[in-house]
Amino acid sequence: MQGLSQKIPRQEILSAFTPRRRAWLAVLLFGWASTPAAADVSADLAQLRQRGAYVLRASGCVTCHTDEENKGQQLAGGRALKTPFGTFYSPNITFDREHGIGAWQAQDFFRALRHGVAPNGSSYYPVFPYTSYTHMRREDMFALWAYLASVPTSARENTPHELVWYMNFRIANRIWKLLFFEPGVFQPDQKRSKSWNRGAYLSNAMANCGECHTPRTSLGNLDNDLAYAGAKNGPEGESVPNITSDKKTGIGDWSRAEIVEYLSEGLLPDGDYAGGLMTDVIDDGLAYLTQEDLQAIADYIMTLPAIRHEITDDGGDNDGGG
Ligand code: HEC
Ligand code: HEC
Repeated sequence: MQGLSQKIPRQEILSAFTPRRRAWLAVLLFGWASTPAAADVSADLAQLRQRGAYVLRASGCVTCHTDEENKGQQLAGGRALKTPFGTFYSPNITFDREHGIGAWQAQDFFRALRHGVAPNGSSYYPVFPYTSYTHMRREDMFALWAYLASVPTSARENTPHELVWYMNFRIANRIWKLLFFEPGVFQPDQKRSKSWNRGAYLSNAMANCGECHTPRTSLGNLDNDLAYAGAKNGPEGESVPNITSDKKTGIGDWSRAEIVEYLSEGLLPDGDYAGGLMTDVIDDGLAYLTQEDLQAIADYIMTLPAIRHEITDDGGDNDGGG
């Protein structure tokens, strides 16, 4: 998080909004104080952005929207995501007006995350995990937007997806959504602890662990009967382990501390290191989280109902040494 905590000029963020939005933003941000001192305002904005930077890390946005392999600029997109339906290329989400999302209004951004709908009304492919982000609280989306407004822009042009022919029609996404997508903000479970609820929120609304650790049906939706029980053919064709509390095929014998250690450093209880896609998830995202938040994720993960589901480590470039 170093380097992100400097004060950010108020003008810079407000300039990302139209005058009407600016007024709305001012009410939202400063509505409780009738005449906030200028210093307080810039401190609030800095705080908001710092939170946005944190949400961005926790939500894996950097991992997907940065083409690290080709040394691409952060959030300028272009990372190839291989799926059974073809290869998707993540778009540029910097605030470049022509090639990024610089011409969007905050409302467009919220709609994309909450409903998977683009400004022109078409539906996104669920490879953009709005199926998880729909659960995100408005404050967190707002912080994200404020932070994105401060990221250096890139004029990288979007790469068209290379998909099997029948997937080229975005209307299919709308049908898919009717079948499998339910928008809605995360609802805490009052019977559980604060930490557990924070962990559930981080795992399901932000870090989208289930998007990889839950297997998919042939229609591409998550098979929730096997929630978190691992997938033989996950993203990039990698096998993704079972992380339910099953002792034999899951991680039921890991302690809370072991889970935290793995999520922050990728160190496995047997001394081996995480491989494959999980390395990116950790290095670009989870490693930036506070110990408290990682413990919260562990508290939540440890209560996942045990599902016996053996994932054999065949194919992919998974480290078979463990
Ligand atoms: C698993 C990879 C992945 C993750 C994680 C991810 N995205 Fe994306 N995102 C995509 C892909 C792929 C698309 C393009 C979808 C399409 O073309 O329908 C996309 C589209 C978008 C768009 C629409 C851009 C446009 O030009 O229409 C925005 C905005 C966006 N993502 C923001 C985010 C934010 C913010 C996060 C983190 C909260 C995030 N994404 C996390 C892969 C990802
Ligand atoms: C982009 C896909 C992806 C996402 C998102 C993801 N994981 Fe993983 N995870 C993997 C893969 C692939 C592995 C196997 C790593 C290896 O081969 O070493 C893994 C391994 C693990 C392991 C080690 C299990 C074992 O038996 O070795 C744990 C624990 C884990 N993930 C927890 C999580 C949690 C918690 C989240 C969300 C905060 C998460 N993962 C998000 C893909 C993902």
